[in-house]
Amino acid sequence: MVNIAIFASGSGSNFEAITKYLQKRKTAKVSLLIYDNSKAYARIRAEKLKVKSVFVNPKKFKSKEAFEKELIKILKAYKIKAVILAGFMRILSPYFVQSFANRIINIHPSLLPAFKGTDAIKKAYLYSVKITGITVHFVDKKIDHGPIIWQEPVKVTPQDTLKTLEEKIHKTEHKIYPKIVEYFCRGRIKIKRRKVEIA
Ligand code: GRF
Repeated sequence: MVNIAIFASGSGSNFEAITKYLQKRKTAKVSLLIYDNSKAYARIRAEKLKVKSVFVNPKKFKSKEAFEKELIKILKAYKIKAVILAGFMRILSPYFVQSFANRIINIHPSLLPAFKGTDAIKKAYLYSVKITGITVHFVDKKIDHGPIIWQEPVKVTPQDTLKTLEEKIHKTEHKIYPKIVEYFCRGRIKIKRRKVEIA
């Protein structure tokens, strides 16, 4: 079974959705949660789900490279084959991305390339878009730019508030992300240059 690590900085609701899905189906194993923020609620979720969690404090390292070398050391120790970013609020350097080339996946709460960066749901809402959604993509050296694996649209209705839209987006994330992670772990997602195929 493929061992994966999830990186998170905050609530960890995607971590929980992926972990529960894979624990039930036993198609891959979430072996590790890595978090970079001591207050991340993801840690509590990991405890409840009996997943090992490791806090890597960026402040303890004198450079980004040293921080990332530590991440890679931990990932190797746990024989991690893929890194799943789920609300990890830190930009990974080309060095790290290269070390796990085509094995790092991220989820973004908009239909990329629209509304890159932080607060994507709010940006889309304030723009009055009628359709937004979520994007699951491979991570490359540029932010929110890697080859897209899957996009799922979410309609914005006149009744939606920012809060209800956030809820709809998160619900969609929790439905889609675990499935894509499983597909990837089972070797059903192939990437050649920017072309992604799902078998
Ligand atoms: C999600 O909306 C995800 O798309 C974005 O960060 C959020 C993380 O939420 N990258 P959670 O920590 O998984 O609850």
